[in-house]
Formats: sequence, structure tokens, C-alpha cells
Amino acid sequence: MSTNSRRTFAIISHPDAGKTTLTEKLLLQGGAIHLAGEVKARGAARRARSDWMKIEQQRGISVTSSVMTFERAFDDLGDVTFNLLDTPGHEDFSEDTYRTLTAVDSAIMVIDAAKGIEPQTRKLFEVCRLRSVPIITFVNKVDREGRPVFELLDEIADMLALDVSPQMFPVGMGGEFEGILDYATGSIARPEGPSKEFLGKRDANAVLPEQFAENAELAQIGYPEFDLEAYRSGDLTPVYFGSALKNFGVTELIEAIAKYAPPPRPQPAGDEHISPERDEVTGFIFKVQANMDPNHRDRIAFMRQVSGTFKRGMKLTPSGLGKPIAIHSPILFFAQDREIADTAEAGDIIGIPNHGTLRVGDTLSETNTLRFTGLPNFAPEILRRVRLKDPTKTKQLRKALDDLSEEGVIQVFYPELGAQHIVGVVGQLQLEVLISRLSAEYKVEAALEAAPFATARWVKGPQELLDQFESFNRANLAKDRDGDLVFMAKSPWDVGYQEEKNPDLTFSATKER
Ligand code: G4P
Repeated sequence: MSTNSRRTFAIISHPDAGKTTLTEKLLLQGGAIHLAGEVKARGAARRARSDWMKIEQQRGISVTSSVMTFERAFDDLGDVTFNLLDTPGHEDFSEDTYRTLTAVDSAIMVIDAAKGIEPQTRKLFEVCRLRSVPIITFVNKVDREGRPVFELLDEIADMLALDVSPQMFPVGMGGEFEGILDYATGSIARPEGPSKEFLGKRDANAVLPEQFAENAELAQIGYPEFDLEAYRSGDLTPVYFGSALKNFGVTELIEAIAKYAPPPRPQPAGDEHISPERDEVTGFIFKVQANMDPNHRDRIAFMRQVSGTFKRGMKLTPSGLGKPIAIHSPILFFAQDREIADTAEAGDIIGIPNHGTLRVGDTLSETNTLRFTGLPNFAPEILRRVRLKDPTKTKQLRKALDDLSEEGVIQVFYPELGAQHIVGVVGQLQLEVLISRLSAEYKVEAALEAAPFATARWVKGPQELLDQFESFNRANLAKDRDGDLVFMAKSPWDVGYQEEKNPDLTFSATKER
């Protein structure tokens, strides 16, 4: 199968905008699940299996991300395989989300029609922009009272500095809602029945009531026309209006992804870009997740395949390990169930069960001659000392911290002076996950204490200067999991001060392995 038939994408949104509902509807229409609600039901069943996921339940948020694959046949395009990567919605998990977005070729931005661009939408959008990930916008909940269409369009354009190209027009919202006009066909999708859902009724040559006709025309001519090139380079977003709950706009959205969203893109590996057409199987790990079963401490590493045709049993070399491993039980993430993969193509996501050999950022390849780049660790914004309640458990604690840092739950730093370990995270919630998992999975009871540091920087430079720097600053230095030198700063000012004092050293806020 040609790689052109893959569409690997994510949905970005502020919590409550309707991502879960839209995901369900997309899967439903893709024939992947048969009842709406199954996404949540599956989630609940999954959560019950693992203690630390109780946090998810208590807080009602999704901590982990998963992969959903579905297929659809189109008259003009043939079969298309969609890989939908779920991004954790909570702002605490920006690092995890960032990495997930490195594994997609495009994104859908869901906006609540009553709220417009919200903080988390904006943050996630910026991540997409960094990597020129093209965005299709879905303005959701038009079955409810929302803000005026022009106000919403202008807000997207102004706040995100992006051209907007409306593809549809909502004929009224809330109580006045009469359906959605699709500019491409000139037809209106109508609400039907007591629930006012879209059940398939489209008026082909509908005449709009006067109060809407003028605005519908203004919206069409007043904004740029859709331009594939501009969309794919991240300069323009086509805007769809709909209601995930009532099923409006979902078909049009799927068609837009199939038609416009880019097939697998080349991925950066240093100065090179690795094409999906390359024969060699290559990929990178963007996420590692502990198995849901606490009795088995194996994990699933999620690999975004970049090139080649993967076959079950194939040997690939992880860059972090240096020697090949045979991939006997790869997992593909079809929404009904997890299926054992026999083959996979560029753009697909493969789950690889392992016992900690695979780490986030690792490249996997047949020849072990390239390294994918752009999957950094971020300098933590919260640092805490870990205090053991039972001091005889030092060894278990170290093992646990090493494991959890490999998984990307936390970063761990071993200070040059003193015995206490320091953990660093980007968001507060990660700390709760840490304490909960230490206890549930490693039987280590620990508490966190304030550390006198505000942030950390990876220090690099000529060895002689590094040695000098080290001898002067031992009290503020630590080694990370890989043994790399880290400056623990008391304040951002502290970083600036050291940078000025040591112009030949670099103090980096991100690190690529
Ligand atoms: P999220 O994943 O982005 O956080 O949002 P989710 O889909 O869970 O939707 C948040 C709330 O908005 C839900 O209501 C959901 O039913 C509602 N919603 C989603 N899409 C639409 C839409 O198109 N129209 C309307 N009117 N509502 C929509 P809830 O009451 O918070 O949750 P629930 O108990 O009904 O699931």
C-alpha cells in the first residue's frame, strides 16, 4: 500500500471544547466503533487496571495518550488509513503532548464556538507552529448559543496570525440553529427529530433565510480562498463549523483530512530529512507507557514509523542500545481492540512491548546509521527533593526513579553533593503521578520536599572550562540520568549570571539525546 494513504494526526483543544466527543464521532464514522461512548468506556475499563491511573479518575482528566486507527474508503481517493493520536488535554502535561505532536503530520484544532481561542488551544497551536504542522479548524458546539461567526474567524486569524478560510457557514446558532451550509456543495445539513441531530438530511439547493444569506456570502468572499500549499505550510487554516454532539460537520471534517491533510512527511535527522519513500525501516519513540497491568512491569514504547515497510519479527536497532532487537509482538492500535501488527507503513504507529530498553527519543532503524532529532527533554520548571520514609529502600528508589525518568514521567537529577535525589517536572500533576506510582508499583513510600532550585540547565563546553566550572559550583551541580552535567539554578537570574560569567559554556533549556 502506498504511504499516501496514511493520515496521522492529533486533535488539539482546550479541555471541554469537545475533543472526546469528536473523537468518538470520527471513530464511529470510520466504522471503528459501533456505539458512541465507547472511547470513554474503554478508558474507564483500562483505568481500573492500574492504581496510578486513579488520579485520572479523581481529576476527570486524561493523563495518558493513546493511538486510534481507523479506515475509510472514498470514491475519489480509495482507502485511507487514519491514525489519530490522542494528546493529553491537561496543561500540566505539555512535555508529553509536545512529543506526541512530533509524531503527527497534521492536527485538528477544536474550538468551542462560545469561547473562541482559549489558553491551552493557543499553547498547543504554538507547538504545532514550531514544527509547521498544518491545522484544520473545527468550530464546535454551534447547536448552542455561540459568538458571532465573524468574531470567531477574526479571533483565530488575529490571535494565531494565520489566514482563515471558512469552508462552511452555520445557519444560526443555539435556538436559531437551522443547519450548516457547505460552500463546496451549496447544500445545507439540517437538524432532524426531537434531538435535532444530523441524520443525513441535506437540502441541495436550499435558499437561506434573508438574515443569514448576506453573512454567509460575506464570510465566503471576505476571507482568503482555500489554498492547499498555504495550508500545508501552516500559513492558512480551513475552518469547519459543526457540532460533535449532534453529528454536524463530522463527515466534512473526515473528508477534509483525507483530501487535504498531508501524507507522512519527511522527518529531520540532523542535517538530513528522511523521506517516507526510503526502503529502510526507520522510526522514533515518542512515548513510553507502563503496562496497565501492575503485576507485569513491561512497557509499551510508541514508535512513529518514518520509512520502509515493517514486518513482524523484523530486527531493528534502537539508538540507545546499539544492538538489534527482534520485534516479535508489535501492536497496532485499531480502535476495537489492539491488534497484533503484521506489517506497517510510514506514518503508522507501532507499540513495542519491552522491559525498559526503549526510551523516548530513541531512533529505531535497520542500519543504525541515523538519528532523528527534534525530540528534546525540557528544562523542568518544578524541582523537588525526594525524601524516603524508609531509609533502607535507597536502591529501590533509585531503580524506580531511573525507570520513571526513562518513561518520561519525571526527570531525575543526582546532585554532586548530598545524597538526596532531585526530581524535575514541567507540571505539578506529574509529581502526584510519581508519588502514587512509587508506592503502587515499587512499594517505595516517599515524600517530596522543596528544593532550593527554580530551574535547571544542561551545561556544555570545552572539557577544561567545564572542569573549572564544576570545581567552583559543585553545590549547584548534578548529573542527569545519562550522566550529563546539569546546573541547578536558584532563579532565572542565576542562569543569566552564569551565562555572562562563562561565555564559552552553553546553558541549554532543552536536551536532545
Ligand atoms: P473534551 O474532551 O475536549 O474535554 O470535551 P468533551 O468531548 O468531553 O465535551 C465536553 C462537554 O461538551 C461534554 O458535556 C459534551 O457532551 C459537550 N459537547 C461536546 N460537543 C458538543 C457539541 O457539539 N454541542 C454541545 N451542545 N455540547 C457538546 P458534559 O456535560 O460536560 O459531559 P457529558 O457528561 O455530557 O459527557
